[in-house]
Amino acid sequence: MKVLVIGKGGREHALAWKLAQSPRVSRVYCAPGNAGTGEDGVNVEIEANELDKLLRFARKENIDLTVVGPEEPLTLGIVDQFTRAGLRIFGPTKAAAELEGSKVFAKELMRHADIPTAEYRVFDHPDPARRYVESRDYPLVVKADGLAGGKGAIVCSTNEEALAAVELIMVREAFGAAGRRVVIEKRLEGQEVSVLALVSGRTIIPLPPAQDHKAAFDGDEGPNTGGMGAYCPASLVTLDLMREIESSILVPTVHAMKRSRRAFRGILYAGLMLTNQGPRVLEFNVRLGDPECQPMLMRLKTDMAELLFAAADGNLDQFEGGRLEWDPRPAVCVVLASKGYPGSYQKGRAIAGLAEAAKLPDVKVFHAGTRRVDDRVVTDGGRVLGVTALGADLAAAREKCYQAVRRIEFGGMFYRRDIGARGPMRPLPQS
Ligand SMILES: Nc1ncnc2c1ncn2[C@@H]1O[C@H](COP(=O)(O)OP(=O)(O)O)[C@@H](O)[C@H]1O
Ligand SMILES: [Mg+2]
Repeated sequence: MKVLVIGKGGREHALAWKLAQSPRVSRVYCAPGNAGTGEDGVNVEIEANELDKLLRFARKENIDLTVVGPEEPLTLGIVDQFTRAGLRIFGPTKAAAELEGSKVFAKELMRHADIPTAEYRVFDHPDPARRYVESRDYPLVVKADGLAGGKGAIVCSTNEEALAAVELIMVREAFGAAGRRVVIEKRLEGQEVSVLALVSGRTIIPLPPAQDHKAAFDGDEGPNTGGMGAYCPASLVTLDLMREIESSILVPTVHAMKRSRRAFRGILYAGLMLTNQGPRVLEFNVRLGDPECQPMLMRLKTDMAELLFAAADGNLDQFEGGRLEWDPRPAVCVVLASKGYPGSYQKGRAIAGLAEAAKLPDVKVFHAGTRRVDDRVVTDGGRVLGVTALGADLAAAREKCYQAVRRIEFGGMFYRRDIGARGPMRPLPQS
């Protein structure tokens, strides 16, 4: 079968690479893709939000399965459009993608379904928002309602910062229409983890938990980014905790979506804070996380094309009950970024050492912001590569990963040296 992956980041390279391993897949296209997806598949020059062009391409090429990486095409209704045209596509409908597309929708759904999340209020005018901020005696997070490219949540330590965030989002409209409404919520303390599940109909298959490192610099210093690295499994999520997350968060969310006539099919991603009072939902995403999915997919042994094919057709139940196969070894992904990211940075710098890094066993270098120019690969984004490695334990996976990182170089390259260091250094129990 022919598969189309939509997007151009590290997540999409991991998807394309994994799907291409399936004996059932004859060709993987990626639109628009990057230098890496062009090696493991075939790039198509269509942007991820050009829905009509994507549909025309999928029809013309008789694509058997389309897999959507980023959130934007999902919230624009790509799944509805492909489904109406009789094409198989994996992901949530436009109505279901509201769970990520509107933080107000997600918070209200959680309130109604009694899903643990931070206390909050919604505002559509700055004055009441300011009065609310001034009446709080705990730190707040101010969030634009709509999609803001991962920049719309402002974590504040003081009321002055929260007032400035209200000003930025609601008055200066830094995120445009996405900030017409805001959620102001209590700032929670704890460790952050990502718990993802494959969902289709009544079937919910949780994937092994992962931990992402969002801050730009070591020790969680500096501005938040799209993610500077991740590891999987995040063993601070114990089996008991995983069961609790399933029963108090994943199951009620899927049920509530169904009740509101937005039945969810796709990847349900819960961004969680593990607080002293238990897990709390920070937000939902409706697709795989980047970079969490790189170490996750590195460990997946099950045929991903079969899995997503079944999920798209509503037959996910055949994979229920522990039938997904995982490499027991943990995986670590370190993102190599361009100096200046998440702010402005240069593009077009030649990348050296990719072939040398690829020679290491149990290592895969996923491309994110890269582009092929003749016979060279050059930088083309803030997050450039996601170097991913498996190891006997987390320490070994980190060691292997950084060994590969040291073989790669480009002008202005920077990366965190402490990815996975928060996890336990002892060998993980075999599960
Ligand atoms: N209530 C909260 N308490 C503490 N930190 C938070 C809270 N909400 C969000 N954050 C932090 O801000 C980041 C981004 O917030 P999130 O809700 O995931 O929005 P987005 O990913 O759309 O920017 C989170 O990953 C987390 O680090
Ligand atoms: Mg987030």
